[in-house]
Amino acid sequence: MPEQTVSHDELDHTNDEEEPCKELIILYATETGNAQDCADYIARQCRRIGFHGRVLNVDAYSPIDLIEEPLVLFVVSTTGSGVEPRAMTALWNILLRSNLPSDLFEGLPFAVFGLGDTSYEKFCWAAKMLSRRMKSLGATEICERGEADEQHPLGIEGTLEPWTAEFLKVLSQLAQHPEGHEVASSTTPPPRVVLPAASSTDLKNAKDPMDNDSRYHRAKVSVNRRMTAQDWYQDVRHLEFDFEDDVKYDPGDVAVIHPIAEAEDVQSFLDLMKWSDRADTPLTIRRNVTGK
Ligand SMILES: Cc1cc2nc3c(=O)[nH]c(=O)nc-3n(C[C@H](O)[C@H](O)[C@H](O)COP(=O)(O)O)c2cc1C
Repeated sequence: MPEQTVSHDELDHTNDEEEPCKELIILYATETGNAQDCADYIARQCRRIGFHGRVLNVDAYSPIDLIEEPLVLFVVSTTGSGVEPRAMTALWNILLRSNLPSDLFEGLPFAVFGLGDTSYEKFCWAAKMLSRRMKSLGATEICERGEADEQHPLGIEGTLEPWTAEFLKVLSQLAQHPEGHEVASSTTPPPRVVLPAASSTDLKNAKDPMDNDSRYHRAKVSVNRRMTAQDWYQDVRHLEFDFEDDVKYDPGDVAVIHPIAEAEDVQSFLDLMKWSDRADTPLTIRRNVTGK
């Protein structure tokens, strides 16, 4: 990642106090939830260096407020064919207005973390466009744009983790941490959820959401055939299912598929991880509100 060319003053553009502002807003735009997970992850990492990141869905945010923000991080995926997630369309249409002054966001520090997939022609397009437009409206990009690729051998995390580490370094610089200050890698941020053992009441109330939801039906995949030519960059599949039930559907309906792992695959994974002795202990998942 190239040298950063930001000055410490950039964080101070909305406050006159001596302490640099250690707040940022993290706006995410997602279609299937990955960008939100990344935004949550980055916010938690930011807390390790004392930055408070407010995480918000971009469609719950008033774009006019951007002018007042001390620092903005956009976490946006690309969907369709190089299109922004639907939640971002309103913001995008406002940013594209031709009558906006080119110094609208003068001095506003921002960064963009994009999510995409290089098997699509317009890789991370929404993130690229957003970063270009913010710069053309006077904002300062403080960190090289992150572009997570689902084709990466480690998936999105393969880019998310190193990019976040770089982003924290830039934040530390901006917040005037002492020269050579290292981000403490041993400080683990508080967990988002805790897993206490399930009580007998929890167990009594526990239901398998799939068994109890009449919209789910068990099926076996009977055909799974590639439709696109072998040398075409996209792998599009024709799938057929054999249902146990008589399933009714209309043209245009969307099917949500929950794959079920074979019991022996699950067991070999548990053996590999040395979790076999614990795997059957019932747990509850609770949101850790004190971990904020
Ligand atoms: C229907 C569909 C279209 C997509 N189109 C693109 C695309 O044009 N460019 C790209 O880089 N990634 C594309 N992707 C990949 C997504 O950006 C990627 O899966 C991302 O992790 C989704 O994040 P989200 O869950 O926050 O929406 C597409 C994914 C889907 C399901």
